[in-house]
Amino acid sequence: MPDQASSYAGEVDWLFYFILIICTVMFALICVLMVLFVWRYRARPGHSETRTASHSTALELTWTIIPTIVVMFIFYYGFRGFLDMATPPPNAYEINVTARKWSWDFLYPNGHVDSELHVPNDRPVRLVLTSQDVIHSLFIPAFRIKKDAVPGRYNQTWFRPTRIGEYDLFCAEYCGTQHSGMITKVIVEDPAVFSSWLEKAGNFIDTMPPAEAGKRIYEKRGCAQCHSLDGTASTGPTLKNLFGEKVLLTDGTELIADENYLRRSIKDPGGEVVRGFENVMPLINLNDAEINVLIAFIKSISEHYQASTQVDLGTNGATATGAADATTHGVANENTQSTGSGN
Ligand code: CUA
Repeated sequence: MPDQASSYAGEVDWLFYFILIICTVMFALICVLMVLFVWRYRARPGHSETRTASHSTALELTWTIIPTIVVMFIFYYGFRGFLDMATPPPNAYEINVTARKWSWDFLYPNGHVDSELHVPNDRPVRLVLTSQDVIHSLFIPAFRIKKDAVPGRYNQTWFRPTRIGEYDLFCAEYCGTQHSGMITKVIVEDPAVFSSWLEKAGNFIDTMPPAEAGKRIYEKRGCAQCHSLDGTASTGPTLKNLFGEKVLLTDGTELIADENYLRRSIKDPGGEVVRGFENVMPLINLNDAEINVLIAFIKSISEHYQASTQVDLGTNGATATGAADATTHGVANENTQSTGSGN
């Protein structure tokens, strides 16, 4: 069994082992008795058949009453666990989950969206799940929870993590080609670490260089599942050297992939589909700031994009020797910022 990292992992496990042990013991008992009886009561010369007993009230009561008690016991503890899982405590921390082919979005109360599920340790967390396309299923083995994400409705589940660490999160409902790749991480952190992570994660666009922030959007918002960075075509075209490249669309139009084309492709994925690819890209809700840095990132990995990131300081720039270091630094930084997101 995987790690036990949630409050009801223990309860689920002992019931599972209880049922497993009963089944194993019964299986072994039946097999042993069967072989024994076949051997012991086989037909042999010199032995005549004896009449089989037709009825035994004591035996029949025994094998009716004992299994009934065992089954009611299993039902009681199973049902209690089921009710517990179905009823989130009122003070639970709420995270909205959106599944789509083939990635997860976790939306935090401060508006931050992440592809990994960060949760505070030892606090009840409620997940509200939905899907953008087909049925997916959120499965965290270490927490012993599994819940479907269904398009057009909301499902909920909850858990209380009990151990700091990283655990796997899978999609457990076959949802197409990349179903098996719909994997991400659950990160259980100390509540204080979690809060500071959330605060930082929430404004990374303001604090990181645009191309780097764009790379994060690429990794965290589901672009990476279909668009490679190494030049190979997957479900969608590669992003390597895409910026500035000539693109042939399904309707025969040819255009150069510039900032506006990239923006349109994100805002309206089915509008201009590249020849040779299916119209399967989902609409991913990115705001303008996120689109800006994503475009900055796509530009940064294209050989067609050559913009200067250094300002020519000229002859005057080197005169003030004392302040030169600081000045150059300041200018270079500012300039990287503006070339990245400026267009
Ligand atoms: Cu999503 Cu399988």
